[in-house]
Amino acid sequence: MIVLDQIQKSYRTPQGARHVVLKGLQLSLNAGEFMAVVGPSGSGKSTLLNVLGLMDQPDSGQYRFEDRDVLQLKEKERAAMRNRYLGFVFQQFHLLPQATALENIALPLLYGSAPFSLDAAREQLNRVGLADFADYFPSQLSGGQQQRIAIARAMVNRPKLILADEPTGNLDTENANAIFRLFQKAQEEGCCILMITHDAALAERADRQFYLHDGCLTVQTPMEVTPC
Ligand SMILES: Nc1ncnc2c1ncn2[C@@H]1O[C@H](COP(=O)(O)OP(=O)(O)O)[C@@H](O)[C@H]1O
Ligand SMILES: [Mg+2]
Repeated sequence: MIVLDQIQKSYRTPQGARHVVLKGLQLSLNAGEFMAVVGPSGSGKSTLLNVLGLMDQPDSGQYRFEDRDVLQLKEKERAAMRNRYLGFVFQQFHLLPQATALENIALPLLYGSAPFSLDAAREQLNRVGLADFADYFPSQLSGGQQQRIAIARAMVNRPKLILADEPTGNLDTENANAIFRLFQKAQEEGCCILMITHDAALAERADRQFYLHDGCLTVQTPMEVTPC
C-alpha cells in the first residue's frame, strides 16, 4: 500500500551545516499491517513520521501511496489526503483544550467532504469506551482517557493508515496496553498502523519491528546492523 524509496531528508543546523537525518530510507507497508519503529532519540523517527504523514517533504526519493506519487501533489491535495486517508496520534495527545471530547473527535469531519454529522464522532467515542465523557474537556480527563479520545479522532474518518509518535510515552503500563489494544482493534477493521515507540515489549507485539539507525530502517537491532 505504501512504498518509500531512497528517501533523503536533511536539516540546516543553526551553524549553517547540512545535517542528513534520513539517508536513502526504504520502507514498504502492506494494507492492514501493524508495524513498530524503534530507535534512539534524535535518530529521525519523527522526521520519518512527518514525511509519511505528508506534513514535510523529503529532499529526494519516492513516496507512493496506493500507486499515487504523493510527493508530486500540491499542498491542497496533500491536505485532502491527510484528512481522508491518515490518522495521527501523538505522545502529548494534542487535543484542543477549549473543545469537549466529542468536539475533538468530530474535528476532522469539519474538513472532510462528507456532510457534517456528529454520529460518526459518537460512534468512535463509544468505540474507545468513553461514551459517558462526551462533554468533558481534555483537562478533566486522565492521560489515558485523553489518548483514547485522540485515537477516536484519528479513526473518525476511517483512515487507511494511523501514524502514532510515541503514543504511550506519557502513560503507565495499564493505559499503554489499553492504547495498544485500540490499535489492534483498528487493525482488525482494516487499518494499517505505524507506531513509533521506546517500549521494546510493546514493539515486540506488533507484526513487524524496524530499527531506525544511521538514517535507514533495518530489521536488525543496532548491535547487529551492517551499513546501508
Ligand atoms: N525542523 C527541524 N529543523 C532542524 N533540525 C531538525 C528539525 N526537526 C528535526 N531536526 C533534527 O533532526 C534529527 C532527528 O530529529 P527527530 O526526527 O525529531 O528524531 P527522533 O524523533 O528520533 O527523536 C535531530 O538531530 C533534530 O535536531
Ligand atoms: Mg521524536
